[in-house]
Amino acid sequence: MTSGLRAGLAAACTLAALSAAAQQAPPTPEQQAQSAIEVRQSVFTLMGWNMDPLAAMARNRIPFDAAAAKTRAARIEQLAAMITDSFQPDTRKFKGETKALPNIWDSKDTFNGKAGELVKAAQALSAAAASGDKAATLKAIGGVGRACGSCHDDFREED
Ligand code: HEC
Repeated sequence: MTSGLRAGLAAACTLAALSAAAQQAPPTPEQQAQSAIEVRQSVFTLMGWNMDPLAAMARNRIPFDAAAAKTRAARIEQLAAMITDSFQPDTRKFKGETKALPNIWDSKDTFNGKAGELVKAAQALSAAAASGDKAATLKAIGGVGRACGSCHDDFREED
């Protein structure tokens, strides 16, 4: 394929995608709320996926691995920084599958503060893991776990 043909095809694909999008009705407020719920739950799904091995290390169920702890801590820090943004849309009026309690939007400062505490706990874990000190790392994993629990206690519906 010549590069001109390739560029032409790419442009045609982009145009087709754009016109398909233009023909679709804009998302309803319900659909926007549903997307917002899915985005924030995705953040937490990844958070849980990164936390699981850390918790398993802390409980001595898998061997201690400082490098893995450092990687997971960095990811949790990044994900924690997305919490505030992902709760920007106020979805209280919409019914959807969510465990987010309505008081999140009444106590935004407290909620955001708890997200900030998780960022700090994840940074402390990164530093401990980078030092390779097993006891300090396990202790810092406990700190991250407490930061998760502290927010869930106040702002997430119980199972
Ligand atoms: C600032 C508050 C806050 C912090 C900090 C927090 N969470 Fe959550 N978490 C929530 C809320 C609120 C929900 C419910 C979201 C929903 O259903 O819309 C949730 C949901 C979850 C879920 C379920 C996701 C789903 O798909 O339903 C998991 C797993 C989770 N959190 C793990 C964690 C872990 C692990 C940490 C710490 C590393 C953490 N969370 C820290 C507030 C928080």
